[in-house]
Amino acid sequence: MRKIYIFDTTLRDGEQSPGVNLNTPEKVEIAHQLERLGVDRIEAGFPAASPGDLAAVNAVANAVKNASVIGLSRSREQDIDAVREALKGAQDPCLHLFLATSPIHRQYKLRMDKDQVRDTARSAIRYARKYFDKVEFSLEDAGRTELEFIAEMTKMAIEEGAYVVNLPDTVGYLTPYEYGNIFKYVKENVPGVEKVQLSAHCHDDLGMATANALAAILNGADQVEGTINGIGERAGNTALEEVAMALETRQDFYGAKTSFTLSEIARTSRLVSKLTGMVVPGNKAIVGANAFAHESGIHQDGMLKEKSTYEIMTPETIGLKESKLVMGKHSGRHAFREHLIELGFELDEEAVNRAFAKFKVLADKKKEVTDDDLFALLEERLADT
Ligand code: KIV
Ligand code: ZN
Repeated sequence: MRKIYIFDTTLRDGEQSPGVNLNTPEKVEIAHQLERLGVDRIEAGFPAASPGDLAAVNAVANAVKNASVIGLSRSREQDIDAVREALKGAQDPCLHLFLATSPIHRQYKLRMDKDQVRDTARSAIRYARKYFDKVEFSLEDAGRTELEFIAEMTKMAIEEGAYVVNLPDTVGYLTPYEYGNIFKYVKENVPGVEKVQLSAHCHDDLGMATANALAAILNGADQVEGTINGIGERAGNTALEEVAMALETRQDFYGAKTSFTLSEIARTSRLVSKLTGMVVPGNKAIVGANAFAHESGIHQDGMLKEKSTYEIMTPETIGLKESKLVMGKHSGRHAFREHLIELGFELDEEAVNRAFAKFKVLADKKKEVTDDDLFALLEERLADT
């Protein structure tokens, strides 16, 4: 089975979510949970950004034993030196260098031509390789870069000894076919490409981040970068729990898997949500409160007969107890009756019918009928008889 490496950037790109600011103990707590989850690589921060971030990356580097710890750096020596300082205690350190390559970034942000971009990146990788065995190089905004220039920059990074070349869709602009095609092109046109791992890093501006990462995998990406719960700049990054569960659920199609301990997914999601203050939407895939909840009568009836009718994965796989049958106006008699039995009420047919009629009247007035509502309703019924 092909292994897809997982590069978690919850503590760096994830922390770039507006309003999120993790202190050092919080970063260390999340890093420990990421180790339990089984991520291969943890990007702990951007040490040149602030003394506080340097200290936090250093604390993570000293705490983590079962994953590579990574520090982000622009393509300049002072940044690389800050990462050297921060990763001193790391067992498996890695430097993550980036430089923008797209025409828009070259013209307006960097004010550099292609040759200057290539030479700046080359010098930075060369300097970094003096101090790090593992250097990842990212072509920022690869998604809007000319394919020939992507190939040229990838070739240069391989020559300089990078071990991962990352091709980010920095602004979440591409759709799956186009993003996959970048990997296909690089695989087919860069000599020596087999010497590096290719990495996918997607943003979710058009809601494509997970689909794009999967398209990259289909076209030869070895690594996926992303965050827990998909947090990150603007609309966020690829949600790693989605990639892990897509590969798990659709092994038949992808023939690839991550090293995630899947039963740690729910716990990791809750911890990241609590410490970042970013609430997970109820309908979020895999980890949303409704991801394993069923409301309609037809679905509930199917679930009670055979769960695979309406669930493609089990809640137990990600570390949750069980699926939820929510009692609401779409619920059917079968689920209603089963729910009453769970609550300890074994009613005869006629009593179920009467209670069910009252439940439907109540359900029309409320979004969800809670267990307390049902108890009240049954007490009324007892009083009626
Ligand atoms: O989105 C992006 O391009 C990044 C780079 C720093 C890799 O986050
Ligand atoms: Zn990013």
